[in-house]
Amino acid sequence: MDYSKAWPNLDDSQKMLMDSVHQFSNEVVAPRAAHHDETGEFPTDTIKQMAEMGLMGMMVEEKWGGAGLSTVDYAMAMESVSAACASTGVIMSVNNSLVCYPIQAFGNDHQKEKFLKPLATGQKLGCFALSEPGHGSDPAGLKCRAERVSGGYKLNGSKNWITNGREADYCILFATINPELKHKGICAFVVDTKSKGFSVNKLETKLGITASSTASLFFDDCFVPDECLLGKEGDGFKIAMSTLDGGRIGIASQALGIATCALEASKKFAMEREQFGAPIAKLQAIQFYVAEMATRLQGARLLTWFAASRKDQGLPFTREAAMAKLSAADAAMWITTKAIQVHGGYGYTKEYVVERNFRDAKITEIYEGTSEIQKLVIAAQELSKK
Ligand code: CAA
Repeated sequence: MDYSKAWPNLDDSQKMLMDSVHQFSNEVVAPRAAHHDETGEFPTDTIKQMAEMGLMGMMVEEKWGGAGLSTVDYAMAMESVSAACASTGVIMSVNNSLVCYPIQAFGNDHQKEKFLKPLATGQKLGCFALSEPGHGSDPAGLKCRAERVSGGYKLNGSKNWITNGREADYCILFATINPELKHKGICAFVVDTKSKGFSVNKLETKLGITASSTASLFFDDCFVPDECLLGKEGDGFKIAMSTLDGGRIGIASQALGIATCALEASKKFAMEREQFGAPIAKLQAIQFYVAEMATRLQGARLLTWFAASRKDQGLPFTREAAMAKLSAADAAMWITTKAIQVHGGYGYTKEYVVERNFRDAKITEIYEGTSEIQKLVIAAQELSKK
């Protein structure tokens, strides 16, 4: 992907960053992707190399071990890595947006020193545990309990569909001190997964992004000291919501990456595959698909980078992040479906990358807020009196 075609004024440092991320994605991540997809094996070595490149804490200030880069830089890097391997992309996205961000934004200096530094440098990996078996789209009523005890809190409950849940060293956990308070009772904790009473219950087998783990977590009288509470008691819901705003930029970028891979593969195939005595790229039916794929992709990319740049400027970006995720997930699903159509019978086989792209795309319409939730968020903003 040549980003100078996507955005006219990338600065020199962005061009250098993207050259090195593209090279890494093409030479290291992409050649391993089919293996990880088939086996479900976690890409440990790739993540280690990404940590060395500063990709696991991209937006964290340098003094806390991060790369000190912008959200736009992060969006571009996420797209590149996800174009090579969407499983690797989500592992990166969760650590950056859902784990490092809330500690950087809401943690105190002690928490940043203790938890953020190892997470941002990639020595440790994190997960974000909000969803529960009975609370996916509606986390305000979550049931996981936090009971105040001497020196800290005792946690009890279950969490579902947690990306990186099997490998995480630290978990950003949301639990309520009083369910009657609804969202105002929710607290956010950083939990060391080596704590007594923490366990990984079940691992999901999935349609796509098979090399990232999706786990159920269980907390059984799991004690965490006071130093693990992020912000104040009752801040948890707002911490979760504002964290997800940034997470949605990450997942939009993952969707863009998946779609980019499918589009590039389709163009190559269309120019090589001959039917009726000429490359199928000469057929208007195929040209129309390619034109619409490229247009949907670029439209979603501009929305994503717009949301990212508002975040970088300190402007509100809840609506823009929801629009970006809605549009990029929709583009990824449409583009990967048409990519298989362009490839015909070949596209339905595992020999061609578009088969994996199609399976990987679906989750972008579901996690970090379904497409329907994004519409609710956008509508609430559009119809607000402010
Ligand atoms: N930033 C900061 N605060 C926010 C906010 C935001 N984006 N959105 C809402 N709030 C605040 C509101 O201002 C309100 O504050 P007050 O109490 O002071 O008035 C409070 O939160 C409650 O707001 P709402 O009444 O709007 O809350 P709601 O319960 O109606 O929920 C929702 C709104 C948008 C539907 C929300 O529940 C939502 O986003 N649901 C989807 C959850 C989600 O994305 N889950 C994905 C889990 S993560 C994941 O996928 C795991 C993974 O590993 C990848």
